[in-house]
Amino acid sequence: DHLREDNLSEETKTLISSLPSTKDFLGKLYNYQGCWYYPNTLLGVRNFQKGFKPQETDIVIASFPKSGTTWLKALTVALLERLKNNSSNVPHPLQSDNPHGLVPFLETNLYLNSSTPDLTKFSSPRLFSTHMPLHTLQVPFKDSPCKIVYVCRDVKDVLVSQWFFRCAYLQKELNKSVLESSFESLCSGVVYFGPFWENVLSYWKGSLEDPEHVLFMRYEEMKSEPAAQVKRLAEFLGCPFTEEEEEGGSVDKILELCSLRSLSSMEINKTGKTSNNVHYSNFFRKGEVGDSKNHLTPEMDNKIDMIVEEKYKGSGLKY
Ligand code: A3P
Repeated sequence: DHLREDNLSEETKTLISSLPSTKDFLGKLYNYQGCWYYPNTLLGVRNFQKGFKPQETDIVIASFPKSGTTWLKALTVALLERLKNNSSNVPHPLQSDNPHGLVPFLETNLYLNSSTPDLTKFSSPRLFSTHMPLHTLQVPFKDSPCKIVYVCRDVKDVLVSQWFFRCAYLQKELNKSVLESSFESLCSGVVYFGPFWENVLSYWKGSLEDPEHVLFMRYEEMKSEPAAQVKRLAEFLGCPFTEEEEEGGSVDKILELCSLRSLSSMEINKTGKTSNNVHYSNFFRKGEVGDSKNHLTPEMDNKIDMIVEEKYKGSGLKY
């Protein structure tokens, strides 16, 4: 959907003709406020900036694609759901819908075609998501006390995850040339929602400047110390686990419900699709740290190490 350029308004056509543009192997990309977008996503970003009205309790899940977005959405839904006194015969929302259906993207779902979408079905706290960098997201959120949670992942694993996802999405054989072109795009910075480093650094800096409103999480820490990280998330969202909950095993129940094995075996995630026609099953693969070792060449690995070191220098961010 985000590759189509034929249904843009005149205003957007004028805007995009003034923006730096280039092509990647999927289509034309435009640089808006420092970030690369396909034309329809750019329209969604603009609609969002123009029309979105924040509420004080809003929560936004942010990420660069393939960094653990689905997992973080599921955990957030589960943390909030436990506060409701639903009877046990009401199915859990995660049983009825995929995390992406429950927590839609602002720019690629809700605001894709309109600056005034109907948001009345969202009850407080409203849960949204985005892949935009923080400064672009913050245009309408300026001075709002909403909570933003970013999940960051080792860029090499992001690259490999993206490779598998793209091939599945394009229904192509897993082929090395797609990995190589994804690698080149990623390194050059000209990549959908990139440069990767700028996306990460915007939230990293935001979390240092305003830790009450921006939480920076790492996929690797969520894997290595899941209970500590889910408690950290709960505290940040203002719904910490009570002692009784901890004693009653509530943390582990949430982790189990949101595990890759549990989510991927749910009927909705085996059979459903997103509105953009992506099979939900494609969002669940291995979920491991370091899978890139099995796929990247030593040259790719070294080049990424050098870029990461250079880009994160002085920021305090270690990866
Ligand atoms: P891999 O391709 O490395 O397995 P996103 O949700 O941002 O699209 O990221 C997808 C990545 O997160 C995939 O990584 C996927 O397997 C992993 N993932 C999805 N659900 C997960 C879960 N519940 N726990 C851990 N990892 C998960």
